[in-house]
Amino acid sequence: MESESRQAHWDNVYASKAENEVSWFQENPAPSLALIAEIGAAPSAAIIDIGGGASRLVDHLIDRGFSDITVLDLSAAALEATKARLGQRASRAHWLVADATTWQPPRAYDVWHDRAAFHFLTEESDRAGYIARLKQGLKIGGHAIIATFALDGPEKCSGLPVMRYDAARLARTLGPGFRLLQSQRNDHATPWGSQQLFQFSVFERVE
Ligand SMILES: C[S@@+](CC[C@H](N)C(=O)[O-])C[C@H]1O[C@@H](n2cnc3c(N)ncnc32)[C@H](O)[C@@H]1O
Repeated sequence: MESESRQAHWDNVYASKAENEVSWFQENPAPSLALIAEIGAAPSAAIIDIGGGASRLVDHLIDRGFSDITVLDLSAAALEATKARLGQRASRAHWLVADATTWQPPRAYDVWHDRAAFHFLTEESDRAGYIARLKQGLKIGGHAIIATFALDGPEKCSGLPVMRYDAARLARTLGPGFRLLQSQRNDHATPWGSQQLFQFSVFERVE
């Protein structure tokens, strides 16, 4: 999908739906927070949420004292909604409107978090673009926490086709620069009570 039509799709989603009217809404992003704690990220760690959208992860990270948080999303509408929710606390994070497949990371982060953005990349060239940015944007020894739909998860999200992964498939896709540390399945309950199976995988950047 072209970057502009992707952006139009997501801006329209965030302009037309409330935070809790999208299937991926979580009141509390507990699986992500648990994994961020498990990798031992200190509050001073530079952490970026790729495709963070209107997720409350940033709120919880601020609450936990994280002081170097960046939220990146293709949709300006998503980030505006998140900033409005945070009010004055929005100044405690950095905000980037960018396409994860083409942006130029201005620095390298300690933690790269992505819940349900990478799985939209159904074109090989887009995945290659994303992985090149992951290599530029994550320190050697840093951690990538990537959550996608599981192999038996939904085939679509927000009306768009997705790629589904287990940890081995995601490890093969990322390539040899990343060591799989752990993975877990997560049964996400949508706001209307249906189930979506996610796969959370944690990698260390080794080269
Ligand atoms: C299903 S939502 C998940 C949002 C958030 N991570 C969460 O867990 O609530 C996918 C998000 O990825 C963003 N996104 C999709 N493709 C993207 C891309 N190529 N670059 C940056 N963001 C993208 C969308 O705008 C949307 O906010």
